[in-house]
Amino acid sequence: MFESIGAKPLVFTTPVWIIGTYDLDGKPNMMTVSWGGICCSKPPCVNICLRKATYSFAGLVEHAAFTINVPSEELAHEAEFFGRASGRTTDKLAATGLTAVRSELVDAPYLAEVPLVLECAVRHTLEIGLHTMFVGEILDIKAAEEVLDSRGIPDPKKVRPFVYSPEAKVYHGLGVNLGKAGTLYKEITRD
Ligand SMILES: Cc1cc2nc3c(=O)[nH]c(=O)nc-3n(C[C@H](O)[C@H](O)[C@H](O)COP(=O)(O)O)c2cc1C
Repeated sequence: MFESIGAKPLVFTTPVWIIGTYDLDGKPNMMTVSWGGICCSKPPCVNICLRKATYSFAGLVEHAAFTINVPSEELAHEAEFFGRASGRTTDKLAATGLTAVRSELVDAPYLAEVPLVLECAVRHTLEIGLHTMFVGEILDIKAAEEVLDSRGIPDPKKVRPFVYSPEAKVYHGLGVNLGKAGTLYKEITRD
């Protein structure tokens, strides 16, 4: 039996990403988003959705670039702070003590302290309603050496990203490993 709970922006799960942009004066700013996800494999693209009311919005449009900084669980407090304070009134980097680094590929800053950084150039903009969607082409990913496995692939257990659950309004780390992709389907037999 299902119960209707209404039309809401709710899906398990939405990421916690810190978006790096320069403002109109070239000052670095960070804000948190959960409305976003990977949206194309080739070219590799990701979307993020911002309200025009955010301070980051104008800078992102002006520089046509942003970084996605994937925080580890240790940075949950800073990640929430970036999503509560505004760069309009607060120097969030000074307040958290985190370090902005200039990307050499896109006109946006990234955080030195996160395990994973996506450097994105804006390719498409879609006005949806309260939020505007920006589709960014991922020009490169910078991964901290210590989170890479022996194949050079970021290991989720080392990155330790976390997600936000809208409505319930809680943060969660990743759960248990359910098995290797490409093997689970074999356990379903069809006659
Ligand atoms: C977990 C979390 C997720 C958020 N997701 C979004 C989002 O997807 N889009 C958005 O416009 N604001 C989102 N916010 C709110 C902004 O991060 C917040 O308004 C922030 O102060 C904007 O910073 P700025 O004014 O320096 O740009 C989120 C906040 C939190 C704590």
